[in-house]
Amino acid sequence: MNQATTPTMSSDNCAADSAQATSAWTSKRRDFLRMMGYGAGAAALGPMLAACGSSNAQSTTEALRAELVKDEAFWSSVQGMFVLNPQKTFMNIGTAGSMPTVVLDEFSSLNRAKAVDCLNGYSNLLDLRKAAAPGFGVDPDELAFSANTSSGMCHAILGIDWEPGDVVVTTNHEHGGGDTPLKIATNRYGIEVSRIPMPVGNNQTAATYVNLFDERIRALKAQGKRVRAMMWSSPTYKTGTMLPIADLMTVVKAHQLISIVDGAHLPGMMAYNYADLGMDFMSGAGHKWQCGPGSTGILVVRNKIRASNPLPLPKWYPIHTSSYSDLERTTNGTATYDIAATITSCGSVHTPMFASLVRACAMWDELGRKKVETYDLALSAYLKEKIVERWGIASLYAPKDDPKLVSALTSFNPFQNKDDVMNSQKSSQFVARMASDYPQGFQIRNSNFPVIGAAAEHYGVRLSTHLWHDATDVDLVVDAMWDLSKKMA
Ligand SMILES: Cc1ncc(COP(=O)(O)O)c(C=O)c1O
Repeated sequence: MNQATTPTMSSDNCAADSAQATSAWTSKRRDFLRMMGYGAGAAALGPMLAACGSSNAQSTTEALRAELVKDEAFWSSVQGMFVLNPQKTFMNIGTAGSMPTVVLDEFSSLNRAKAVDCLNGYSNLLDLRKAAAPGFGVDPDELAFSANTSSGMCHAILGIDWEPGDVVVTTNHEHGGGDTPLKIATNRYGIEVSRIPMPVGNNQTAATYVNLFDERIRALKAQGKRVRAMMWSSPTYKTGTMLPIADLMTVVKAHQLISIVDGAHLPGMMAYNYADLGMDFMSGAGHKWQCGPGSTGILVVRNKIRASNPLPLPKWYPIHTSSYSDLERTTNGTATYDIAATITSCGSVHTPMFASLVRACAMWDELGRKKVETYDLALSAYLKEKIVERWGIASLYAPKDDPKLVSALTSFNPFQNKDDVMNSQKSSQFVARMASDYPQGFQIRNSNFPVIGAAAEHYGVRLSTHLWHDATDVDLVVDAMWDLSKKMA
């Protein structure tokens, strides 16, 4: 939430499309209801749904804004829990979150206590895992602490008993955090990586991804390939597209594959129940949306057979541990050993760091993970609708209408001359000027990615909306981006 409420940029803002025709409302309202109905629990959603049905004179944008401001006092108090520099508007949580005061205090007092009493960190942190696991819907033996998302991806991928010729099916929008261990496994164990070109924009649905993965796997099998695993990001860091875990797990199960999710952005953004989703590995960051300290991550590992995924547990060896159990993995609903202890425990760890991460998790549990998710997604939905009003639907890289594909990352082409998005320098200038040219000091980022059929990579800009933002921040950033896009045209 930025203190400034009045945009100071020139007033050539385009308001042309903001008054949407009432005739268009019905389908728009349906989209909105679908989106909100998917992303949030009934309790958190009740007021939004009621408001949506209350008037057909409002545009979707207006309805979203009205809902966002309804709980303003609550979200202002949440904003007050952070120590963020008020001179800037931090909209790059996808890269780094910020520890709230309670977490900073916990960190500081535990650091001091550790120093005062010369404490060590030889522990598998069971008590902390017990405290954090329920918030993610898993047992303590299924939630490990890692150093970050990349570290969790290394634990997952490099621990698998790969055979030469095993194929991992993934996408061409993955992050280096997952791609690097895949590359190591390629060189070291002779695996092959098959990449699906990612669609971008609003014209896609969850079924698109089910079909893309299923068809690729079938084609590989028809060539005699041994497809062993699927790996994907939910959401991708490039466009913010939420690859739908539950839907993709149907493909995983149909083809009896190992499932590895790069969920860097999931902890603290989405209120997922990972036992219900049933993937083998989900590697998330503790330091992004969850707002824990740097060098913290949450790695969820399937460690028992549940109805959500009846496939056998993959054979897996720890690659970074001081606690190695050579027990076989279980074939039923009872774990044979605490795999999360094996992953968490490696020499003396910095316990205050993980205790502080767990304090952040407790804060989210107290706020209500579903409530945070609903708010983050509603802010992003509002931002996407405003982008569509100004730049048109074709400017979005992040989809907005399929509720299963939305995240709190919003990525789009901000340029008046659409081809400028292929100009890396111009895109970087756009990001830099959003920070320097506007009093709100907007911190956003860009990322480059291939687009099917495009002559060159696109350098879209990406914004993160989280619990310290409000509707006014979205209004201001959209006005600033519109103003800057005109100036850079
Ligand atoms: C999808 C994705 N995977 C992995 C990473 C790496 O995250 P970490 O710094 O937690 O290792 C990022 C970072 O932005 C990301 O967006």
